[in-house]
Amino acid sequence: MTLLFTCFCIATVVQAQWLVANIAGRNTLNLNGSWAVIVDPFNAGESNWKPIWKDQHATGAHDFFEYAFDNTITLQVPGDWNSQRNDLVYYEGTVWYKKTFQYQPQPGQHSFLCFGGANYIADVYCNGQKAGSHEGGFTPFQFDVTHLLKAGENEVIVRVNNQRRADAIPALNYDWWNYGGITRDVDLVTTPGNYIQDYFIQLQKNDTSHIAGWVQVAGSNGPQKVSIHIPDLHIHYTTQTNAAGRANISIAAHPALWSPEHPHLYTVQIATATDTVAEAIGFRTIAVKGTEIELNGQPIFLRGINIHEQIPQRAGRAYSETDAAMLLGWAKELGCNFVRLTHYPHNEHMVRMADKMGILLWEEIPLWQGIQFSNPVILAKANRLLDEMIERDKNRSAIILWSLSNETTPAESRDTTLSAMAAHARALDPTRLITSAFNHVAYKGNTVTIDDSLSKILDVVGVNEYIGWYTPWPAKPEAMVWKNPFNKPLIMSEFGGEALYGHHGSKDTASSWSEEYQEQLYKNQVAMFKNIPFLCGTTPWVLADFRSPSRLQPVYQQGWNRKGLLSDKGYKKKAWYIMRVFYEEKEQNNFN
Ligand code: GCU
Repeated sequence: MTLLFTCFCIATVVQAQWLVANIAGRNTLNLNGSWAVIVDPFNAGESNWKPIWKDQHATGAHDFFEYAFDNTITLQVPGDWNSQRNDLVYYEGTVWYKKTFQYQPQPGQHSFLCFGGANYIADVYCNGQKAGSHEGGFTPFQFDVTHLLKAGENEVIVRVNNQRRADAIPALNYDWWNYGGITRDVDLVTTPGNYIQDYFIQLQKNDTSHIAGWVQVAGSNGPQKVSIHIPDLHIHYTTQTNAAGRANISIAAHPALWSPEHPHLYTVQIATATDTVAEAIGFRTIAVKGTEIELNGQPIFLRGINIHEQIPQRAGRAYSETDAAMLLGWAKELGCNFVRLTHYPHNEHMVRMADKMGILLWEEIPLWQGIQFSNPVILAKANRLLDEMIERDKNRSAIILWSLSNETTPAESRDTTLSAMAAHARALDPTRLITSAFNHVAYKGNTVTIDDSLSKILDVVGVNEYIGWYTPWPAKPEAMVWKNPFNKPLIMSEFGGEALYGHHGSKDTASSWSEEYQEQLYKNQVAMFKNIPFLCGTTPWVLADFRSPSRLQPVYQQGWNRKGLLSDKGYKKKAWYIMRVFYEEKEQNNFN
């Protein structure tokens, strides 16, 4: 019976839909701050016996309720619960959140509850009514609550459950902390009845003289005039929506191209008779030519780093603009023009900050090892996560690569699923490149062959190799030969090894966990990179030490993955300087 109930519970998860783009550019009531919470490890609050979402209060002589949000503990939103309370560091279960707010609904307007993200399943109630549910810990979701709000005080109650599941994305085991909670911003957005719902405005694929895309208007009854104004380009373009509220656009333009050196963003204003939104958008092209990646028609070497969405000093989820500035500031200091946002879409502040700072991005959904590809629900879930990631970030010029997966095991069901996902992503966004990171390469003597069949469906391949850590060097690094039968550009998407900051020892013994060993490993990796002609980018694993439940070495790890170039306090290890010099040389040579 329990199993049946559990299946029913997950199967009835009603998926949110994308209702309003560019929250930052809208009329919003921000609901961040202190929320009252009830920790509910046995899911008592879901039963009819104790329906926490009803938030009942005793009134008569004989009624009583064994829960209350009054006089209970609070948690800060946004923020994971693990890093806010010592009794929740390892918690995997349900927490109920409650926030009240004053609101005056205006006739004819829409009101949307918008969440930047909550890990892993969220059930949202507004004034005692179910607004909807969302599955997935790293993508935004929104609900139309126009019909649920009232004048005066309103309340929103959210049940968040972060228990891991075999048919989830990611699945049961992964190498990062299972941070639970409402981990990102919450806003109540108000729009006119007839409003600009969404838009896609980028350069036409491989064409620097045309801005193309579309605008979607909602609530409209019949064709609507849409205007797009880009003052700095002296563009004032008008068009008309079709019966479905969609207007395709194609605008002749010669914008200054966005690049890491010149991250030029244009103010783009979109207007209809009843609504106006604006945001900063950059224009650039990205393409593959043979085994090279070309940005704005020129080959580029991606000087990258992997970043988890964690502030090491806080041992918690990053969620703010300040957090984004710190993480990307470190990347800039390393000499990066590129960041792989691992292993899931990060909060929106991160991608908007990358637009401003001129840092190219690889963004991925968390199909991370151990995925049940033979389970039919996985493709539907994966495509929905692609929808939510691409819908949110499709106007961010910094993003050049959508990644489908990380270290999946070669199998027919995997290739079938990922091929369908690649087609889905390309249909959503024909302007960007599709990639994936995998670790199945063939080692034979001093030769490494990229032989994963997944390469066929990708524009760019990402290889995770840990030669010098999980794999001993089969030959001298400078004698290593890489083969590329699929003839695709290669990003070395993960490499590295562990060191405890401040711990010194042998450069030749991995079990020394020393900075010297990690430093030598990086010297060896760089020596190998110099002999890979189709290598277009490198992203060391990983910017900073990060929490992981499976890293159990009692002296050197203590629940942390120590592959950071930075310690858990942000201090630079010796290996940091090896990559810094490598990137300085790459920057001076401008590609080769
Ligand atoms: C894998 C995986 C990472 C993990 C890393 C490691 O390649 O992609 O998520 O943290 O190896 O073992 O440290």
